[in-house]
Amino acid sequence: MEEMEETLRELEVWLQEALAAADSVSAVEALRVATLGKKGRLTTILKNLSRLSTAERARQGAAANILKKKAIHLIQKRRSTLQKAELDASIVVERIDTTLSARPEQVGRIHPVSQTLDEIMAIFGWMGFAAVEGPDIEDDFHNFTALNIPPGHPARQMHDTFYLPERADGTRFLLRTHTSPVQIRVLEKEQPPIHIIAPGRVYRRDSDMTHTPMFHQVEGLVIDNTINVGHMKNCISLFINSFFEQNDIQVRFRPSFFPFTVLSMEIDVSYLCKNNEETCNTSESWLEIIGCGMVHSHVLTSCGLDPERWQGFAFGMGVERLAMLKYGIPDLRTFYEPDLRWLQHYGFLFMDVPSVSGRR
Ligand code: PHE
Repeated sequence: MEEMEETLRELEVWLQEALAAADSVSAVEALRVATLGKKGRLTTILKNLSRLSTAERARQGAAANILKKKAIHLIQKRRSTLQKAELDASIVVERIDTTLSARPEQVGRIHPVSQTLDEIMAIFGWMGFAAVEGPDIEDDFHNFTALNIPPGHPARQMHDTFYLPERADGTRFLLRTHTSPVQIRVLEKEQPPIHIIAPGRVYRRDSDMTHTPMFHQVEGLVIDNTINVGHMKNCISLFINSFFEQNDIQVRFRPSFFPFTVLSMEIDVSYLCKNNEETCNTSESWLEIIGCGMVHSHVLTSCGLDPERWQGFAFGMGVERLAMLKYGIPDLRTFYEPDLRWLQHYGFLFMDVPSVSGRR
């Protein structure tokens, strides 16, 4: 019995000294395991109590349990002291000097296409659209057939497609000619309600003042059970006004044709008109920026959706053209000439973040 008391006292002294000497949270943890762990010293003492007589067990047990509580308390106290010290030390070491400039000098500029894409995404993000992406290399089904452009349809010729070499089974992949195949990929996977936009590169064999073989589009798709032309017109008008950051921009909805939409329209804007009297009265002052329409029932059925139940609209816009209009860039081809002076002039500083309300 005496022996047991002696052992407990010894253990307490040992623990106190060892804790005082422990200089890290992990050292304290090691002491906790050595004392209170499964094979810890105090745990072993507590286990051995069963060998004692009932009266002894009660007495010794009480003493051992008091020591256990004390040990837990001592360990916890030392641990929090050391934790605080370690945190203080790391705050000093990891301190960030926010007064230092992020970069010693201004390196490069953001390309107008990146800037414009960011702005478009910010506006649609604010309207509640989710962004998705599809592959640049597409198959014939997604780029044409599922969009109600079956083999032999004259619209295929209008697309000036880049085809990849023929494969063993006779099929050929192609570089997507528009972002509309992403509509199909989303409709195949998701159930309405759908509100998505899909930014990306598209490719056509075309090159002049207003065409390059590669350019960017942003596709939009909204499907639900009551979506109508009014929603389409409102949504696109809201976008245009937000993008150009003014309400009196001239917009023209012109009837058009796309095989994958009905009530198809093209939207032209004449933004330069206000500042440029000369071009004001000529037809050249309008630039087509968006194609849109109500999603054709054939598109819905080819993706397994019931056109009696679901309806909606789609649109596709040319990113470079929006950039040209907003930032007064005259020739589309210069976007892809590696001319640093051009980028210096038309590019943006990285702090020029897109905003819906902000003017720059
Ligand atoms: N994909 C069409 C184009 O590239 C644009 C469009 C998209 C039209 C969606 C209507 C609906 O010209």
